[in-house]
Amino acid sequence: MLNFKKKSIFTRQPAGDNAQPEQEPQSGILAVWGSPGSGKTITAVKIAKHLADRKKNVVLLLCDMTAPMLPCICPSSELDGEHSLGSILAATHVTEALIKHNLVTLKKNSFLTILGMKKGENEYTYPPYEQIQVQELMDGLRKIAPFVVVDCGSYIANDILSAVALMEADSVLRLACADLKSVSYLSSQLPLLRDSKWDADKQYKVASNVKPHQVGEQIGQALGSVAFTLTHSQELEEQYLAGNLLADLSLKDSRLFRREIEKIAKEVFGC
Ligand SMILES: Nc1ncnc2c1ncn2[C@@H]1O[C@H](COP(=O)(O)OP(=O)(O)O)[C@@H](O)[C@H]1O
Ligand SMILES: [Mg+2]
Repeated sequence: MLNFKKKSIFTRQPAGDNAQPEQEPQSGILAVWGSPGSGKTITAVKIAKHLADRKKNVVLLLCDMTAPMLPCICPSSELDGEHSLGSILAATHVTEALIKHNLVTLKKNSFLTILGMKKGENEYTYPPYEQIQVQELMDGLRKIAPFVVVDCGSYIANDILSAVALMEADSVLRLACADLKSVSYLSSQLPLLRDSKWDADKQYKVASNVKPHQVGEQIGQALGSVAFTLTHSQELEEQYLAGNLLADLSLKDSRLFRREIEKIAKEVFGC
């Protein structure tokens, strides 16, 4: 009642010329890809959380088969269900119902659902899958949720799940740290993508885990011009170490990182 009253008294109509036009949300699949250790998982999780906090239904698909990330994102007590991505890909046909059955929901925010391998599993835990299962998975996810964020593995040459997700995505964030190893990695992998039907226009270059002394010249030298810069944050590093990436970032040293995640979500999804 009080909220209603407050609103009716204080709500102001946007003023004519100064009003920012509200951007319509754009549904779709965003793949987060880049060099090993560049912060793909952190970034994918934080974008998915940003959308879910704004009451947008989002599925976070965790592609890492060698180090299942589900147990690293939040304590298992915060998750509803104990399903694995492996049981979806093991099916001859991946149906919408099968995907829905295996989604793991975050207890405190049911707008966020996650699909990933479980602790202790590896790609040999399940029967082999092929491109068709992944394609069906991506098609199914599009029907299930307006927003899909995919945390891809770096090594697409040997990882059909990440490779197909990358091809099927509507937008791609391509992460790299401002160092020679990242640059070398990308120049080794990008020819693989160019040889397949890969739409290079859909990708945004992102400088990731950037320390204050790297801002400016070092990023430019190593990576050229980038669309977004994700800065290093100690709070984030601590969340990662504690396996608590779905917690809020509230300290000052995370402010620039948070702001950039907001900018990315606005650019890619319009929300
Ligand atoms: N913005 C950042 N601030 C602090 N640490 C970061 C940031 N981005 C990445 N890291 C660190 O980099 C490491 C790898 O992150 P992760 O998300 O697992 O990368 P990837 O998925 O690309 O392998 C972690 O130790 C994490 O703490
Ligand atoms: Mg990762």
